[in-house]
Amino acid sequence: MHIAIVGTGYVGLVSGACFADFGHVVTCVDKDQAKIDALRANQIPIYEPGLEPIVSTNQRQGRLRFSTDLPAAVKEADAVFIAVGTPSRRGDGHADLSYVVNAAKEIAAAMNGFTVVITKSTVPVGTGDTVEATIRAARPDADFEVVSNPEFLREGAAIDDFKRPDRIVIGTDSARARAVLSEIYRPLYLNQAPLLFTSRRTSELIKYAANAFLATKITFINEIADLCEKVGANVQEVAHGIGLDKRIGAKFLHAGPGYGGSCFPKDTLALARTAQEAGSALRIVETVISVNEARKLAMARKVSQVFDGKLHGRTVAVLGLTFKPNTDDIREAPALSIIAALQDRGAIIRAYDPQGMHESAKILDTVTYCEDPYDCAAGADALLIVTEWEQFRALDLPRLKTLMKGQILIDLRNIYRHDEAAHAGFEYHSVGRRP
Ligand SMILES: NC(=O)c1ccc[n+]([C@@H]2O[C@H](COP(=O)([O-])OP(=O)(O)OC[C@H]3O[C@@H](n4cnc5c(N)ncnc54)[C@H](O)[C@@H]3O)[C@@H](O)[C@H]2O)c1
Repeated sequence: MHIAIVGTGYVGLVSGACFADFGHVVTCVDKDQAKIDALRANQIPIYEPGLEPIVSTNQRQGRLRFSTDLPAAVKEADAVFIAVGTPSRRGDGHADLSYVVNAAKEIAAAMNGFTVVITKSTVPVGTGDTVEATIRAARPDADFEVVSNPEFLREGAAIDDFKRPDRIVIGTDSARARAVLSEIYRPLYLNQAPLLFTSRRTSELIKYAANAFLATKITFINEIADLCEKVGANVQEVAHGIGLDKRIGAKFLHAGPGYGGSCFPKDTLALARTAQEAGSALRIVETVISVNEARKLAMARKVSQVFDGKLHGRTVAVLGLTFKPNTDDIREAPALSIIAALQDRGAIIRAYDPQGMHESAKILDTVTYCEDPYDCAAGADALLIVTEWEQFRALDLPRLKTLMKGQILIDLRNIYRHDEAAHAGFEYHSVGRRP
């Protein structure tokens, strides 16, 4: 199969590299010349464990190419994946489809012979119809099918998720398109990954429903954590207790500072918007959005309360900026809102993150970025853990305490225990757990 991927971001790059690894001939296209130049030199523009060897091996063996020349890549492709961004549209929360529609127009102009155009970007129900109409308007004579194939990979575990997915959802009614997609995913099918064929609209909705459900699970346990603090229960034990029930499941039941990232915030907003427009409001999802938004500020309030509301001039050392570990992605990361709210209250912020400081520095330039957790803690009144990077799980607490001015440890990811923190001399605060 000859495959073109339009948009070489987190999803396009991982998909393209993995398809090449399956044996297909792939060209990843992007408008960003610097990104393409870097990739040609095997420099990976994102932090994604395990990606670099796949890119370099497949590039060396001639199955993976990077280009800004969309027409050339599309012309020779049997299948063209659209993997461009679908950010929130300012003002109304609807997914901004301008990148998708522009990509469709460019693809239409270059298509040659029967071509399957597959939307991998997360797009609202009915976008497949829009893409089809856009291509049809530009090329009334063209032989093509438009398919929905949403992506479920998680940043930080993207290669494994792509190669060992729980399921592959393919939305099409066309037998020809189905045959092409089956061929593309054949190596995974041989590995027994379920291929789920649905209508295009159903497939588009599955992606949003999945993300909204996961966001709801996180938000649910976060509210239970608040209740635990009030009534003297332990949220980790509650999560364990309910998670053992197979109908509930243990995953996504970790209380914390609220969900963030490049997907859940915008996808929940877009789904709520779609539902409102369809006259079938999703009140649970709307509530999840507002509860999660409020939570980030509540976390800043939690820090402030430890200092009796007197944060002015206090130094807070923040460990973790990315929205989760193993990525450099800081889009909608809770740390950003929390830091801004702490600064509004007059706090001085030092911060350390293993991968997120480069991106963060573009947004937060009034933060002192540090070498490591110990450098970050130096002279601080409080240490605030926001992201549960592996390297934050076994910190030398007595050493940290000695380096700090104060003795406050606020652990928004519940990675330490009260007794060990207290043993090191800390006044320890966590989420949904009392001493
Ligand atoms: N990031 C994730 O974890 C994830 C997971 C599942 C689904 N998704 C969805 O996948 C889509 C892409 O997300 P992402 O995080 O990879 O985005 P991204 O912003 O990292 O990458 C998008 C890329 O598309 C390029 N681009 C835009 N228009 C183009 C065009 N006409 N021609 C060529 N290149 C073009 C941009 O330059 C950019 O490099 C979104 O809809 C997102 O919701 C993302």
